[in-house]
Amino acid sequence: MTLYLDNAATTYPKPPGVCGAMRRALEDVGASPGRAAHRLAREASAIVAASRVKVARLLGIPNAQQVIFTKNATESINIALKGWLRPGDRVLISGLEHNAVLRPLRRLSAVGVQAEIVPCEPNGEIDLQALGVALRKPVRLVAVTHASNVNGALQPVSDILALCNEQGIPLLLDAAQTAGIQSFSVQDWNLGMLACSGHKALLGPPGVGILYVRPDLDVLPLMEGGTGSRSEDDHQPGFVPDRYESGTLNLPGIAGLAAGIDFIVDKGPTTLCEHELELAGILEDGLAAMSGVKLCRPRKRGTGAVSFNVNGLNPHDLAHMLDEAFDIAVRPGLHCAPLAHKTFGTFPEGTVRVSPGFSNSHEDMDYFLKSFQDIISRRTRSRR
Ligand code: ALA
Repeated sequence: MTLYLDNAATTYPKPPGVCGAMRRALEDVGASPGRAAHRLAREASAIVAASRVKVARLLGIPNAQQVIFTKNATESINIALKGWLRPGDRVLISGLEHNAVLRPLRRLSAVGVQAEIVPCEPNGEIDLQALGVALRKPVRLVAVTHASNVNGALQPVSDILALCNEQGIPLLLDAAQTAGIQSFSVQDWNLGMLACSGHKALLGPPGVGILYVRPDLDVLPLMEGGTGSRSEDDHQPGFVPDRYESGTLNLPGIAGLAAGIDFIVDKGPTTLCEHELELAGILEDGLAAMSGVKLCRPRKRGTGAVSFNVNGLNPHDLAHMLDEAFDIAVRPGLHCAPLAHKTFGTFPEGTVRVSPGFSNSHEDMDYFLKSFQDIISRRTRSRR
C-alpha cells in the first residue's frame, strides 16, 4: 500500500464520513440547491446552508452567508485580486507567495497594477520593518500566505495586521495550507479577505474552495450568471454569497467538505495540528542526522510540510526513487511556488517535500526515514 506523504497538495485519505456524505448528496438528494422549491431542491439547499454554518463556525466568519463557495483557493484568490485591484493600484505581497497570487498579478500588471514583494528572511519570516516602510506609500491591498506550501513557514499574521490596520489597508490571507489545522478567527483578525481550499487541511474533496470578503470591500465578481435569486433582473445580485456564486454549486463537494469539518471538530483542530507538527519534528530530526541532507527549515512551523535537498541529487530523482523502490508518495520541485524557493535559496531545482497528514503514524515516519536512509546509503556505496 502506498505511503502517501503529499498532504500539502491534497489530503488523502479523507476522513471516513466524507465519501458517504458525497454519495448521499448525489444518490439521495441530487437536485440543484437554491433553484426550485421541490423537496429535493430544499434538501440540497439545506446541505449547502449547513455546510456554510460549519465553515463559518470553524473559521470565525461572522455570518454564514458570508461564506462564498468557489472551486478552489486559486479561484478565491483570483476573485479577491481581480475584483478589488484597479488600474494604477499598488499591492504588497510577501516573498513566499504561490503562483496562485503571482500569476493573476502578472496579468493585472498589464492594466497598471503594481505588485511589490516584501522580502522574507531565508527562514520564511516576513521582514516586518520592510513591510512598515512599504506601507508608507499608498497601498490598496496586502496579500500574504498564512503558511508556505513548501515548508510550512508560518507568518506572524497579528503583526502584519497591526501594520495594515494602522494604515487602514485590507489584508488578503491565503490560508490554503492552514485552514483546518491552524486555529484563527476571521472576525477577531478583522481580515479583509480570506481564501482557502476545501481539499487540504479542511479534509474535504477537491473542487470546493472558500472565499470571505469583508462587507465594506466592494470586490467585483469574476463571473456573472444564474444564482436562483432576483431572476427578473439582468444585473448580478449585490448580496453575498450570490454575488460571487453564479452557476450550479458543487453539492457533493460541499457535502463532503461539511463531513471533513465534522471530523476536525470531533478530533479538535489543536490535536490534529499537534499530531502533524510532531510528525514533522520526527522527519526533521531523522533527516538532519543523514549525511548530505540539507533541510529547508522555517523559523516557525504552521503545517507538517518538510522540505529538504540532498547534495548532488536532483529532487525529482529522489522522489522517483521513493516512489519506485518504496511506494512512497512525495512532491519534488518548485511546488508552484518559485518565489518561495527563491526566498529559501532552493530555486531553481526546488526541494523534496514530505507532507504527512492526520492519518499518518510514527511508524509511517520511521518507514520513510529508513527507506530514505537506504537510498542515501546505496548512493554513497555506488560512489566509492
Ligand atoms: N499548491 C499545492 C501544493 O503545494 C498543489 O502541492
